[in-house]
Amino acid sequence: MAVSLQKPIRRWLLLRIIDMEKSIKIFGNIDELSAFLARQLIIQIQNIPEGQFFSIALSGGSTPRVVFQQLALKFRNQIDWKKIKVFWGDERCVAPESDESNYKMAKESLFDRVPIPAGQIFRIKGEDNPVFESERYEKVVTQHIPIQNTVPRFDFILLGLGEDGHTASIFPGRLDLFNTDKLFVVAEHPVTKQKRISASGRLINNARTVAFLVTGESKSMMISKIIDQKGDWEKLPASMVRPKSGELIWLLDDNSGSRVKAQFGT
Ligand code: 6PG
Repeated sequence: MAVSLQKPIRRWLLLRIIDMEKSIKIFGNIDELSAFLARQLIIQIQNIPEGQFFSIALSGGSTPRVVFQQLALKFRNQIDWKKIKVFWGDERCVAPESDESNYKMAKESLFDRVPIPAGQIFRIKGEDNPVFESERYEKVVTQHIPIQNTVPRFDFILLGLGEDGHTASIFPGRLDLFNTDKLFVVAEHPVTKQKRISASGRLINNARTVAFLVTGESKSMMISKIIDQKGDWEKLPASMVRPKSGELIWLLDDNSGSRVKAQFGT
């Protein structure tokens, strides 16, 4: 006899199944986190067939800076940089020389220190008109990244998490930008009103692997809210990151993971 489950239970079960696709790893410090990420990249890049490229979209903010420095310092000779094409999941609408630029941060902490061919780095031109650039960049990504389910499928997308639950540059209250059919959108920081260009959920959730890099006690409440599905967690952009046919990895440190550590140990 078929058991008919009430809709709320079915929805809860579905979300739990989706959750099983995510893995949560908590590290003692950012060096250990960086080493784990490096090993993941090394393995995945090694599996890329000859003549093809490993595509990665970088996140911005302060967390990746340390991770990128570690990749350059300790894994420079272990990563096959000539097989990587680098893009961004979001960029501030500033010049590439600006200290606000995610491109500048990655250039100084990583690209200036490893042998990645300059022609394989595709920055978002934050200095240009945001609407035109979001459209131009969507074309660039579509041109370089293999298509699956009508959408470019990144091998790897790095994301950060804001204390307000934003990710990339999709902020709370703007899930319309996450759920759009576009691949890149023009967003705005809710406090500074700074224009941003950001990947949408359609692009993010089509990736093979999506990894959140989140460190620091200031993020622990938000981590618990999202992972333990508390309160209005479903309204948070970061909660909407659920790769359709890919893997979601949360890479935390003891501080950001302090409220979920009991469940996930390490
Ligand atoms: C950006 C980001 C943004 C960032 C989070 C976390 O351009 O700022 O892409 O989403 O990842 O705000 O930033 P921190 O790592 O600095 O906490």
